[in-house]
Amino acid sequence: MAAPGGVLDEASIESGQALSKSISEDFKRPQFGTRFLTDPRQVFQHNAWDNVEWTEEQEAAAKKKVQEHSQPLPTEKQEEYDCRANEYWNDFYTIHENRFFKDRHWLFTEFPELAPQCQLNHDTSPEDSGIGDGCQGDLDQGQSREGTPQLPTDVDFPGCTATYRILEVGCGVGNTVFPILKTNNDPGLFVYCCDFSSTAVDLVKTNSEYDPGRCFAFVHDLSDDAAVNPVPDESLDVIVLIFVLSALHPDRMQASISRLARLLKPGGVLLLRDYGRYDMAQLRFKKGRCLSDNFYVRGDGTRVYFFTQDELHEIFNLAGLEKVQNLVDRRLQVNRGKQLTMYRVWIQCKYRKAPTEPPETEDEASGAKKT
Ligand SMILES: C[S@@+](CC[C@H](N)C(=O)[O-])C[C@H]1O[C@@H](n2cnc3c(N)ncnc32)[C@H](O)[C@@H]1O
Repeated sequence: MAAPGGVLDEASIESGQALSKSISEDFKRPQFGTRFLTDPRQVFQHNAWDNVEWTEEQEAAAKKKVQEHSQPLPTEKQEEYDCRANEYWNDFYTIHENRFFKDRHWLFTEFPELAPQCQLNHDTSPEDSGIGDGCQGDLDQGQSREGTPQLPTDVDFPGCTATYRILEVGCGVGNTVFPILKTNNDPGLFVYCCDFSSTAVDLVKTNSEYDPGRCFAFVHDLSDDAAVNPVPDESLDVIVLIFVLSALHPDRMQASISRLARLLKPGGVLLLRDYGRYDMAQLRFKKGRCLSDNFYVRGDGTRVYFFTQDELHEIFNLAGLEKVQNLVDRRLQVNRGKQLTMYRVWIQCKYRKAPTEPPETEDEASGAKKT
């Protein structure tokens, strides 16, 4: 498994500088998911170690720490954070603008569905692979769409003539959208992106790389069951959620994912990367920050949940999607200068809507036996 690191995370919200440094160090690494710590004395030799095993004691200590800080805030406070959720994110983007923008080259290693025509060599460094400049792969993207049902031609919506449609939900300032537009040069591609923060969406639309001929950014609250989507059901090939589901109230996660699943074409995939249970960011929450089990409010009013693999599996399963991947990425990040160790836990999922069965041939319909 290739394991990306350095995403907009807790550290970025409280200490952008530190995170930017750790991101850039991560991107210099030649290959993700291959550096294993076998000798604990060597921990400070590198900036990060992949797939670290947690001991039982470490897991028990993390659980205890979480329990100690799990007294929930009063209901009025909870309601305020809920009602004003998008205002807190607007404030966040007003302050930070797009300073956290980073080209995430790992996106295409982990999620090749975002640029299926690019045949990436997983043994090659992101820098060497040339994906940042766009790529011309041998595989015609159309090949991956064979058998995909086409929408009625009289349906009019942004990108209605496209043949490969990707939606990013909770896009922030475009950390995923712009790399997709740059890398995936399929002429049939159209990318949708939305966020409930109008400030974030404005930052996307005013970015010099925003091309309305290939992309449509819009304000949309994923958790609002009355919100209208600009695309019809069964029109999307890929939906991406990167550190977004965790920002929703846990009570609204299931319905939100079920609504998104309806937008996928048969055979389409939903890709997610998000916080895992006992990630360093969870363990750092002190008393007075807990909203409900494993759900917290940060100092700036934005909220975050920490998932287990099983919880995510259940949500996707109930939305009628089939598991392709559901993995936990445990990484040990190291601050060599300060001799600090940080245990990160992320979960990565791919869930697919079942493809439609090909129509029965006449022989099959009449029950004729094949010889
Ligand atoms: C941690 S940030 C991640 C942003 C982006 N995906 C990235 O990786 O850079 C979470 C994003 O989710 C958005 N968000 C939170 N709740 C949302 C909701 N109910 N509907 C749509 N977007 C939401 C926030 O505004 C914010 O941009």
